[in-house]
Amino acid sequence: MEENIRIPSHVSIIMDGNGRWAQKRGLHRSAGHVEGVESVRACIEAAVETGVKYLSLYAFSEENWNRPESEVSDLMNLMAKSMLNELSAMLGNGIRFIVLGHRSRLDAELNARIDECMERTKDNDRLTLVVFLSYSGKWDILQAAKRFAVELADHPERREELLSCGPEIFDGYLVTKDIPDPDLIIRTSGEMRMSNYLLWQGAYSELLFTDVLWPDFRKDEFRKAVEAYSKRDRRYGKVK
Ligand code: FPP
Repeated sequence: MEENIRIPSHVSIIMDGNGRWAQKRGLHRSAGHVEGVESVRACIEAAVETGVKYLSLYAFSEENWNRPESEVSDLMNLMAKSMLNELSAMLGNGIRFIVLGHRSRLDAELNARIDECMERTKDNDRLTLVVFLSYSGKWDILQAAKRFAVELADHPERREELLSCGPEIFDGYLVTKDIPDPDLIIRTSGEMRMSNYLLWQGAYSELLFTDVLWPDFRKDEFRKAVEAYSKRDRRYGKVK
């Protein structure tokens, strides 16, 4: 990797192409998800090595609940198993683990395991790994707006203050309130859309699309993406 490059603080990935990776090999789609976990592991290592502080992964969208029941349960089991397998590695490597999304749709056992992993890793600060599970951007904005409306109704004396709030205050109602907006959003497998991901938080993210399928996206691909980011000119709508 080149030296003296600008490292993004937060890299976020829309992991796509597991099914196609498996189909190309005549395997069941779930084999692609299993192989995808190896890419998750490789990207965590690469993030730590390059000095990225936040790595977030779009693991399961609200729309993914509409997949066949067997695929949904395979994915949930894989997620639960991976958490269990990786907990000691996360503890040993200073990784803080966070799950964000519509948690009440997940089953109680998985939620309990997530809570345990989050609790046990909460003081780590080398890398924060955020897994978006049962998440969608529109869901997040809507739940924030509803909580904002409840606060307004409960506190008429704060009406003026609340109604004059700017985006930075509204940020505080989103489930991502404790993590910075992504500097770089990567999507694998050649698809070029946001698929209801971080719609608010990604307003000024750099986007990088690659044809590489997620199970083939390993350390070298991660490093190449960070290098490509460091050459981008971020202007945030201003003139330089
Ligand atoms: C998209 O590929 C991938 C997913 C919907 C699941 C991604 C989840 C994992 C790799 C497991 C992650 C595990 C942890 C612990 C975070 P696709 O099935 O949509 O592929 P296709 O477009 O080729 O059909």
